[in-house]
Amino acid sequence: MRISLLGPPGSGKGTQADAIRGRYGIAHVSSGDLLRAAVREGSELGVEAQRYMDAGQLVPSRLVVDLVRERVSSDDCAEGYLLDGFPRAIDQAEMLCGMLDDGEPVLDHVVALEVPEDEVVRRLSGRRNCPECAAIYHVEFSPPATDGVCDHCGSALEQRDDDREETIRQRLAVYREATAPLLEYYDERGLLRRIDGTGPPQDVEARVGAALE
Ligand code: AP5
Repeated sequence: MRISLLGPPGSGKGTQADAIRGRYGIAHVSSGDLLRAAVREGSELGVEAQRYMDAGQLVPSRLVVDLVRERVSSDDCAEGYLLDGFPRAIDQAEMLCGMLDDGEPVLDHVVALEVPEDEVVRRLSGRRNCPECAAIYHVEFSPPATDGVCDHCGSALEQRDDDREETIRQRLAVYREATAPLLEYYDERGLLRRIDGTGPPQDVEARVGAALE
């Protein structure tokens, strides 16, 4: 199964990705995680990408596409993959079409999580991430057992640099302008599954599961 998960920042893509990859046994490919890893490594690409990420802008496609191409060509993607946050614009969707030449469709489903903007701001303002195992928490909606400590690996939780309200608003504006047109693009191709992303994560997970059956 090959799936792309779309939705505004904070709509729950990373949270739902965990459940989907477990259910279908497919690899999770997050373009945001790939970029943040490049930033941590301090690679040339990472240094260039960081400027855009800190400003809440899209990283130029020429930088992102090579990272994703390399990742989806790896062995653990042979049984399928879940793209989280990719493609993010029409040009990336077109590039994805030419990324694999194994005769299979590059996507079977595109799942779009729909969450109102005010809710997104509340979710991102309270988000905490584990830098080691990538677990996602929220100080109010899904807090760790011990404040500031990851339940899974015991690492100190962090707040992402781009989760400041001003940057969140900028990321939302970029979503409306560059990414939202993908909904129509995939709808026209019969791939789009729109999901109400509000309510508890387990309810959203059940809706996603039903849409993919
Ligand atoms: P990326 O890392 O992809 O961030 P994003 O799309 O902005 O999405 P987020 O990770 O912020 O949110 P999410 O939808 O995964 O929500 P989460 O599950 O964490 O991209 C970051 C940056 O990298 C971009 O701005 C751009 O610069 C660059 N980039 C990435 N991909 C790119 C590309 N393809 N092209 C160009 N540039 C690219 O949930 C959020 C919070 O809500 C958590 O605290 C969670 O616990 C909570 N939560 C989740 N679900 C629920 C629920 N149902 N109810 C209550 N709380 C919930």
